[in-house]
Amino acid sequence: MWGASNRLLFCASLFTCAAASVGCSKSPGTADPRQVGDPSRGAGLISWYGCGACHTVPGISGANSLVGPPLTHFAQRGYVAGMLRNTPDNLVRWIRDPQKIVPGNAMPALGIDNRDARDIAAYLYTID
Ligand code: HEC
Repeated sequence: MWGASNRLLFCASLFTCAAASVGCSKSPGTADPRQVGDPSRGAGLISWYGCGACHTVPGISGANSLVGPPLTHFAQRGYVAGMLRNTPDNLVRWIRDPQKIVPGNAMPALGIDNRDARDIAAYLYTID
């Protein structure tokens, strides 16, 4: 009994690892928001910086614009702006200086420091 269920577990974890290393698995953004920053502070910053003037952001009141892409299911996205793999460091890079990554795109650099960007990223990773 025990042996069989352990073997099953082992197979399941092997499969998970294999899927993760392929790179196109559904959920690369398995970042734990709490490891990235403070999501509740991030929610306040999203309102404060006015991200909702361009984005629909679930859970942020008034953030329902469609100028930029909706940030729905962000934790499950494979890429940030179709350019960078969706990792916490890359998301922070994007939030701090989107013009460096896609010059000329409509999202301005808003002068966000590293700590604020990490807290904003943490919130975005709570959007499953
Ligand atoms: C003036 C409009 C504007 C504002 C303000 C703005 N963005 Fe954006 N944002 C965009 C546009 C346009 C894109 C798409 C850029 C591209 O794909 O080249 C984008 C892309 C993104 C992406 C990548 C989305 C994806 O689908 O991969 C994230 C994340 C993001 N913005 C977060 C933010 C956050 C957080 C703020 C506030 C700090 C913010 N944006 C403020 C216009 C804006």
